[in-house]
Amino acid sequence: MAADDGLRPMIPHDWDPTGPTTQADPQSELARLRRTCPVAGSQNWGGFYTLTRYDDVVEASKDPARFTATVQTVIPASPRKGLPRLPLQKDPPESTRYRKGLNQFFKENRIRAIEAPMRDLAASLAEALVARPTPEFGTDFAAPFTVGSLCILAGMDLSEADELGKLGHDYVAAVQGGDMATAGAISREIDGFALRLVADRQAAPRDPETDIVSGLMAHEPEGGPYSGEELAGMVRLMLIGGHVVPRNFLCSMAWHLAGDADLQARLRADRVDRRLLIDELLRCYSPNQALVRVATRDTEIGGTRIPGGCPVALNFLSANRDAAVFPDPMRFDEARNPNRHIAFGVGPHMCLGLSVAKLQARITLDVLASLPPFSTGPGVRWARWTEYGVTQLELRFA
Ligand code: HEM
Repeated sequence: MAADDGLRPMIPHDWDPTGPTTQADPQSELARLRRTCPVAGSQNWGGFYTLTRYDDVVEASKDPARFTATVQTVIPASPRKGLPRLPLQKDPPESTRYRKGLNQFFKENRIRAIEAPMRDLAASLAEALVARPTPEFGTDFAAPFTVGSLCILAGMDLSEADELGKLGHDYVAAVQGGDMATAGAISREIDGFALRLVADRQAAPRDPETDIVSGLMAHEPEGGPYSGEELAGMVRLMLIGGHVVPRNFLCSMAWHLAGDADLQARLRADRVDRRLLIDELLRCYSPNQALVRVATRDTEIGGTRIPGGCPVALNFLSANRDAAVFPDPMRFDEARNPNRHIAFGVGPHMCLGLSVAKLQARITLDVLASLPPFSTGPGVRWARWTEYGVTQLELRFA
């Protein structure tokens, strides 16, 4: 099945994910959809449906035979020219080949080993942040912290980290500025970076315990060793998936705290359950708003008929405000427990980097609790579809 952006006239236009009403207040627009047309059609990008209710998102995520990841996983579809994004663009059982290899880098012992260098990095960034005349949390903290943690996790050199940091920064700027031609060109450069990294480790393997490419090369997957392209495809997905989305989430965390002096004070006094607070922040500011599958045949979900070949967005942000699962869903409840949010997805493609993302959030919360009281400055920018949350945040310290 090929990605198809031809117009699908039978799809209603229930909402426009990039229109002014959504841009102004995405949460209210999604609440309207959950109430009035939970499987919402859009004519954007050739037409697609969005699942806005929790149960429908879970059902589609867990049924790759009906909703495949092999055609497109984002909307608008990215051109399928560069490296494959592995495992995201494969259905099980093929995706398992890649998940098993990558998983070893996200186990508890590995996470414990990277915590101290990540804390050191965060402390030095925080020191520089408070010293700036106009501190901007995204550029001065969240971006270098998330790229730096990836480099620590993947065992990269400083020069490689610098190159990745620059590519990541330019990529985010192009995407947020809506300049998709530049974003496409930078995406190809990121492919080049991943291919060079793999070639370098193939020529001179490093410690498989700490260097991710060497670790994947030493792994013995079913079906034979990974090819160079497979290795680069896995690295490529991790480097970008593990950077843009967490950056936005850390900015959203800081933005929420900047607007709640009382919560800040209780955090400083250590009177907040930080684990529950992080989960509630993930629920309310799910940074990966939506990912996409394609219906493999005519099918039905949530009472709506979906034509075969039609893209279907899994809206995690909306699912996380579904009143059927979360009592008083629009209220921010820092002690919400249980909290069954699906900000990391659900099913065969559930986020592999969850443990690193939660560690980043814990460290960032500790940093924010150690700063002088802060509020929001004038420079705040929000991410756009298919992301969600704050992407740029000027802070003012008391
Ligand atoms: C707040 C931070 C993060 C959030 C909210 C998040 C969310 C997600 C979501 C929603 C998915 C896809 C689920 C699907 O398509 O069904 C995903 C997949 C993935 N994430 Fe994350 N992510 C975060 C951080 C990270 C980090 C730090 C890394 C790597 C270090 C990472 C690596 C991946 C990978 C490799 C996949 C693909 C898994 C697969 O296809 O099987 N993520 N993430």
